[in-house]
Amino acid sequence: MSFAFGIGIGTQNKQGEWLEVYYQQPVLKPEASLAEAARNILDYKGGNQAFQATAAQLSELSAALAESGQNDQAGLAKQAAGSHRPVVVTLLETDDTASSTPEVYLKLHLISHRLAKPHGLKLDGIFGQLPNLAWTNEGAVDLNELPGRQLQARLEGRILEVKSVDKFPQMTDYVVPKGVRIADTARVRLGAYVGEGTTVMHEGFINFNAGTEGTSMIEGRISAGVMVGQGSDLGGGCSTMGTLSGGGNIIISVGENCLIGANSGIGIPLGDRSTVEAGLYITAGTKVALLDDKNVLVEIVKARDLASKPDLLFRRNSQTGAVECKTNRTAVELNEQLHANN
Ligand SMILES: CC(C)(COP(=O)(O)OP(=O)(O)OC[C@H]1O[C@@H](n2cnc3c(N)ncnc32)[C@H](O)[C@@H]1OP(=O)(O)O)[C@@H](O)C(=O)NCCC(=O)NCCS
Repeated sequence: MSFAFGIGIGTQNKQGEWLEVYYQQPVLKPEASLAEAARNILDYKGGNQAFQATAAQLSELSAALAESGQNDQAGLAKQAAGSHRPVVVTLLETDDTASSTPEVYLKLHLISHRLAKPHGLKLDGIFGQLPNLAWTNEGAVDLNELPGRQLQARLEGRILEVKSVDKFPQMTDYVVPKGVRIADTARVRLGAYVGEGTTVMHEGFINFNAGTEGTSMIEGRISAGVMVGQGSDLGGGCSTMGTLSGGGNIIISVGENCLIGANSGIGIPLGDRSTVEAGLYITAGTKVALLDDKNVLVEIVKARDLASKPDLLFRRNSQTGAVECKTNRTAVELNEQLHANN
């Protein structure tokens, strides 16, 4: 069985290199008939490949797909045959290190379509296959071609608005998964996994290969690689430590029904039903005083020893400055209130 399939409409630069690809209906674990149709029409011989398809090939592909009962993909191929933009058919036999831009885009789409979970796909080396682009109101533009396009737009009485300069586009230009609210769409990158019931407020951010399992209120930053459990809230301006820079190699995650307070941060995986006080940043090496129910010191441990342990409340003692950890009694109630008006 092959790994993934997608018919995409893309953008190329003047050299004919792919800049980005939009896959309306990416497929994970496609049926054999999809690859079979491509094998005959596109001369696909297996492996991971992206074919630029002509209108004639797409019409033929559409007919072959319809014959094998793949009606959605057949319809898509038929529409793609009339495209004014280049069309790519991407076939991935295995989840391997990506070797082309269309391949990386297909993987990012699989995650944002919730067909694959963060950490569920091989994404090493993707930066090398993602060109840094100007994302404009007229689509993706190669940075070398930008001054020419800007001048041309002005000459024609238009303005080319550059919304961002980045390797990743915003997710919502490619897919809006069901049941989400995103106040500022620029803050969620393609490749983010936004679970059903998630609200991302203006200060919230979700990187690629990261996201939320389900209902969540996100007003802080979900760094690359971080997954947030069902029912958890990230307070305004809070930070989850990523693994892309700074040498961190522990994969940070947030359990279920957690509350990460405003302006706080975590550098350890947080267990279920845990709370971090507003303003407190816990790094893996932070020395933490464990207190019992009567606020008596039990022992001093490093925060990394508390990784993934449930029902913890972290706070910085406002009188002594020591970071303390107690059993968390209020997390669930807090979340119920916060989610009442999601
Ligand atoms: C850490 C936090 C959860 C504690 O809240 P709580 O469990 O309701 O605790 P309370 O404020 O009722 O305090 C309980 C006791 O601990 C004390 N206490 C609380 N925080 C303390 C601190 N940092 N240092 C010393 N004592 C503290 C209180 O004074 C109180 O003492 P008392 O028993 O003598 O009255 C809360 O302060 C917090 O930071 N919440 C995050 C909210 C947030 O940021 N939401 C996101 C918004 S965008």
